[in-house]
Amino acid sequence: MKSHPALTTSLTDDVAEILIGEQEIQRRVRELGAQITRDFAGEELLVIAVLKGAILFLADLIRHIDLPLSVDFLAVSSYGAGTRSSGVVRILKDLDEPIEGRHVLIVEDIVDSGRTLDYLLRTLRQRRPATLHVCTLLDKRERREIDVPIDYVGFEVPDAFVVGYGLDYAELYRQLPFIGVLKPEIYE
Ligand code: IMP
Ligand code: MG
Repeated sequence: MKSHPALTTSLTDDVAEILIGEQEIQRRVRELGAQITRDFAGEELLVIAVLKGAILFLADLIRHIDLPLSVDFLAVSSYGAGTRSSGVVRILKDLDEPIEGRHVLIVEDIVDSGRTLDYLLRTLRQRRPATLHVCTLLDKRERREIDVPIDYVGFEVPDAFVVGYGLDYAELYRQLPFIGVLKPEIYE
């Protein structure tokens, strides 16, 4: 069988630089889980992951949260194949359950301009949760356009488009176990 050339090379070959390695991510995720466990001691959590970028982070993080918790998902409009936010946010998939009176923790992959998170916070606050907190794996603070409150940050990252550990470029690269920067020719 004749295979496509792309299938004969590794996805990792498209990565110019690894910003945060697998071990470093896992160490930090463990710390965050322990911190959340302490901060919410005695409470029951509702962990809301923002699809699709937060799925790897969510899966690892909740393994380190030693509290009764449930998980729900929310999907919002994304960049499409581009690398910059359109600024327009839309809910593509809403939560399955009401959040009124619950202790809610939003889990995000990355906060960039802050528009997505700002929209989510405004929307979810209207549903009257008991508390509403935010945990993001990555914070691209330099690019912030809207000031949003973030309670837990895994890592601060520079202004570069990153992929891996859930984050995609045109839906690819999510499964990489590290956070990396793509080679410029990938975007061209
Ligand atoms: P914001 O609304 O500009 O803060 O963008 C938030 C969303 O944009 C994130 O949840 C990601 O899905 C996406 N995003 C922002 N920066 C990156 C990046 O460097 N790589 C991959 N996705 C990104
Ligand atoms: Mg996202």
